[in-house]
Amino acid sequence: MSKRKAPQESPNQGITDFLVELANYEKNVNRAIHKYNAYRKAASAISKYPNKIRNGEEAKKLDGVGAKIAEKIDEFLQTGKLRKLEKIRNDDTSSSINFLTRVTGIGPAAARKFFDEGVKTLEVDRCSVYLSHFTFRYFEEFEKRIPRVEMEKMEELVTVGTDYIGTICGSYRRGAASSGDIDILLTHPKYTSQTAKQPKLLHAVVEHFESIGFVTDTLSKGDTKFMGVCQLQQSDEDEEEYIHRRIDIRLIPKDQYYCGVLYFTGSDIFNKNMRTHALEKGFTLNEYTIRPLGVTGVAGEPLLVDSEKDIFDYIQYKYKEPKDRSE
Ligand code: TTP
Ligand code: MG
Repeated sequence: MSKRKAPQESPNQGITDFLVELANYEKNVNRAIHKYNAYRKAASAISKYPNKIRNGEEAKKLDGVGAKIAEKIDEFLQTGKLRKLEKIRNDDTSSSINFLTRVTGIGPAAARKFFDEGVKTLEVDRCSVYLSHFTFRYFEEFEKRIPRVEMEKMEELVTVGTDYIGTICGSYRRGAASSGDIDILLTHPKYTSQTAKQPKLLHAVVEHFESIGFVTDTLSKGDTKFMGVCQLQQSDEDEEEYIHRRIDIRLIPKDQYYCGVLYFTGSDIFNKNMRTHALEKGFTLNEYTIRPLGVTGVAGEPLLVDSEKDIFDYIQYKYKEPKDRSE
């Protein structure tokens, strides 16, 4: 969960931390996305609550906190821990799968498969058969969040002053004090969903970043999506030594750009709520397009979109600035 405002801790950090840990367990190990969403929603409500929560009953008044979560809050407040979490942390299956999902590029399904095939936490050698070794080389660096000041430096670097339109999305765009990775969305006026693919537009940018020593490794490179590793160079003015960061760059057709920017700005909970609202208004919204739904539920042609605001307008949703999109 990314915090919007500076490091000021919520008085209920202990509770939100354990809820987020439970959420990740449900997503990564059980692949139970509804439970994941439920824990995230509760954590989000509690993180905004200004007072120190005294018991589950008090927490239950908040949106998204039901009886079961309230019970856990009571247990946590009374004993300082949670048996369920202790069990999860001690369980070989879940700690291994959790570890594997933390390794970049490994989703829950693949992690489960590795695990079933006997790949476990400490068997790094066997893992490396499956994973390119630099996911291990940079593993510890990728675990560290990127301070906002460093994100700002990277933004300066990547705003290539050409015809390209580029946006750093993700938690950074929402104003987070720190980010897990860099998500760049790129488009070019000459590239639309009606024109032919133009992988060169993406590759030229990546090559430029490589030539200035910013992009250091490639995890994968397709026509429209680059996944890799980057690092800011140490400069004369600042003593700071920068570490390796995960960077994704996506090239998106101009007519789909703002649906992409909206989606990749998130948060995932905000996206979910907005999609639900869109459906209620008779539209289907995804990372590419917004389309009206006919009476039979079949989606029509994509609507013209020239800004994020257009999307909000179509579905009569009050416009929210990125910083207000935590849910
Ligand atoms: P992330 O980079 O995973 O999330 P983030 O940038 O919000 O947080 P972090 O600081 O940890 O990097 O994904 C970027 C956005 O993509 C996310 O904010 C919303 C969208 N998204 C979804 O809507 N659903 C998903 O399952 C994922 C992975 C992302
Ligand atoms: Mg991100």
